[in-house]
Amino acid sequence: MITKTTIDRIMEAIDIVEVIGEFVQLKKRGANYVGLSPFSNERTPSFTVSPAKGIFKDFSSGKGGSAVTFLMELEKFTYPEALKWLANKYSIEVEETVESHENKEEENHRESLMIVSAYAAKFFHESLLDSEEGQNIGLSYFKERGFTNETIKKFELGYSPDQWEAFSGQALKEGYQEEFLVESGLSVKRDNGTLYDRYRGRVMFPIHGFTGRVIAFGGRTLKTDKNVPKYVNSPESEIYHKSNVLYGLYFAKKAIRDEDNCYLVEGYADVLSVHQAGIENVVASSGTSLTVEQIRLIGRFTKNITILYDGDAAGIKASLRGLDMILEEGLNVKVVLFPDGHDPDSYVRSVGTNAFKNYIDQNRKDFIIYKTDILLKEAGTDPIKRAEVIREVVESIAKIPDSIKASVFIKDCSHILQIDERALLSELNKMRLAKSKKDAQQGAKQAEVAEQYPVEEIPLEKSVKEDYTQEKEIIRLLLLYGSKMIDWDGIANTYIGPFMIAELGDVEFEHTPSKRFVELYSNEVENGVLLDEQLFIHHPDKEIVDLTVTLLATKYTLSENWYEMHKILVPDEQVNMKATILGAIFHLKKHKVGKILDNLRTELQNAEGDENTEILLTQYMQMKKVEKSISDYLGSVIIK
Ligand code: CTP
Ligand code: MN
Repeated sequence: MITKTTIDRIMEAIDIVEVIGEFVQLKKRGANYVGLSPFSNERTPSFTVSPAKGIFKDFSSGKGGSAVTFLMELEKFTYPEALKWLANKYSIEVEETVESHENKEEENHRESLMIVSAYAAKFFHESLLDSEEGQNIGLSYFKERGFTNETIKKFELGYSPDQWEAFSGQALKEGYQEEFLVESGLSVKRDNGTLYDRYRGRVMFPIHGFTGRVIAFGGRTLKTDKNVPKYVNSPESEIYHKSNVLYGLYFAKKAIRDEDNCYLVEGYADVLSVHQAGIENVVASSGTSLTVEQIRLIGRFTKNITILYDGDAAGIKASLRGLDMILEEGLNVKVVLFPDGHDPDSYVRSVGTNAFKNYIDQNRKDFIIYKTDILLKEAGTDPIKRAEVIREVVESIAKIPDSIKASVFIKDCSHILQIDERALLSELNKMRLAKSKKDAQQGAKQAEVAEQYPVEEIPLEKSVKEDYTQEKEIIRLLLLYGSKMIDWDGIANTYIGPFMIAELGDVEFEHTPSKRFVELYSNEVENGVLLDEQLFIHHPDKEIVDLTVTLLATKYTLSENWYEMHKILVPDEQVNMKATILGAIFHLKKHKVGKILDNLRTELQNAEGDENTEILLTQYMQMKKVEKSISDYLGSVIIK
């Protein structure tokens, strides 16, 4: 875990305008800054940053939070990843607590591998640009392939000298440890204990991880000798798990989000050429077949994948099955096939950006339609084969979790297959049923566990209708005035926060984030700590941050509604703090009592005069009294 001291240092250093300014163009407006929401495609800016409070609020998407939550939302960082990004930006050294000796070692180990990889990337890059061999062989190759200096720089392309120990020798000389050189796969150990370079005379493609650090390499040979492997790739290591990595993702993230689509290609060269052509939302699975992890990685940014295939890929049919996996993850898959002999790299270079884009737009087909077409063509008129096609197509459709989407495909495919929609639907239902049976068997075990830890069930209707206005109003007041001193007649020498907590007594909060907020608040009050909004803005619990920011950002609208709703005419809530605070507390209590009364009424109806009726009636009358006394009290406090 990152230490509290480090977090504090990071929080102190954060300038939210500066951080968000790296992603959004901000303009000053009054005390705040505004810009176009990075979360939606708006034309008029509704994205607001308040440097004084250290928060942002995006009125178009409803998102809001601190600089940390901004990074988590936009870059899909985890909390520690966001902190590390900020630490890096502000050159703050990250201290992490030693959870166990092993963890620390593991972390150091990973860090060492990253450091060695970064060094190697720099070594290869410099050797490409600065050495004579690099320029003559590597650089001229890249130039021939049409890569610009900008692309070469951005992707840190490199060249490994055609010698046995150029890299290893230099790395050892500069003090990099043998252990990490070997484990990262950059060096290989000879029987006599000395090291030699894995990559020799190859152009180098560094592979960047999710946060932009180099974690592996692919090296392409420039020889035409068939006995030399075309690509040599880094072995799996603690920092490189091939199945979790997509080449180019770090550079594509922003565009994927903006375009709400991700192009998937096969190779390094395809990523570079397509990216260079200005289509930056492109990644490659780098020669391996797509994994579930890779799909989920894309799914963090968009639900739409477009696969760009080589025209001559004989393996297309074989890959069809693999694509069902994407459907299963709930993503939409489209495919584009290039003319024979072309891959995305060669095609974009031969026709140029605009024609390339047009081609994609005109040839983009939905995967299911595409699959249906291919299989149908293959089956010809053979009825048995056609029946098999229907089964396979419906099998894919059955993988789509969204049943509305699935039914649209059923309709489309019934046209293509020239078969009655109902026949397809019944086939679909059969498959669904079989699948849910299978899931049920697998789920039985989980259900057992769930039974041991029953989760409180919230009736759907209620949870939707309820907007928890009263509970949120309490949180808003705690946030704004909790650390202010009370100065009302009769009550003094205490702060509003602890006073409210005491007054609320055992009122049960139902709105989960509010409930957690109050729990957090009471705990700290018990410890004698007064909390201010900053603590909540920077809290690791995202729901608490969301609640805080929403309440702080919308306080005026909220209170106007609130007073309007309750027909209370208090022009400024601070004029009569006592009425504001007590009013909110008693409104909440009244609301709770109202709910108890509702329940009692239902129970009374159900009791239909049996032995419980009398007890229920007594309870009902008592509660009515409580309700009345609260109302009386509210009247006296508010109307002064
Ligand atoms: N690949 C690999 N090992 C190989 C061949 C291919 O790892 N022996 C991976 C690489 O990630 C490569 C991708 O599969 O980028 C696609 O292969 P290919 O189309 O042969 O390579 P390109 O990158 O297109 O290279 P080029 O255009 O230079 O031939
Ligand atoms: Mn190629």
